[in-house]
Amino acid sequence: MRKFSTLIAVTLMVSLAACGGSSKKPATTTTPTTGGTSAKKKSLYDRLGGLDAIKQVIADFVGNVAADERINGRFANADIEHLKTMLVEQVCEATGGPCKYSGKDMVTAHTGMNLTDDEFNALVEDLVTTLDKFQVAQAEKDELLGALGGMKGDIVGK
Ligand code: HEM
Repeated sequence: MRKFSTLIAVTLMVSLAACGGSSKKPATTTTPTTGGTSAKKKSLYDRLGGLDAIKQVIADFVGNVAADERINGRFANADIEHLKTMLVEQVCEATGGPCKYSGKDMVTAHTGMNLTDDEFNALVEDLVTTLDKFQVAQAEKDELLGALGGMKGDIVGK
């Protein structure tokens, strides 16, 4: 429950005792198909590499946010460990993983902050930096960013 007193920041993802995890790196390729017509596409969660990969991504991403002077002031009083946990749960669930997000809904979590488009975009940029660093493939990147982009209306200007 550490608090970051200086301009330490972040955003998306949690350690779920119920979800477990190994030491896999985030996936860098899309799922190969068999050439048949009945091949079922794996969940984004699986294609990203599962819970351990998501934890790595969130940790790196939060590090980027903490270093991003455009937005890190927003997190001066944040409980970063809790936030990371929430982000991991959220991304795990949103991508089809076995987790259950236990945090506040996005409107409630961001009401009173009056966040701007620029701040939202800065945060997304920080995530893209992480996804590129982990060489997450374009398809998975687009899907994840699409899922998060869909939350923008609940987060900005509240
Ligand atoms: C897709 C974009 C975003 C997602 C998915 C997201 C997600 C979350 C989540 C899951 C929480 C924790 C809720 C809880 O504790 O129950 C949270 C809190 C918070 N978010 Fe966001 N967020 C986003 C954008 C932003 C942006 C752009 C900012 C500011 C630049 C921001 C600032 C904060 C702050 C300050 C908190 C409270 C942290 C604390 O008090 O411990 N978020 N967000």
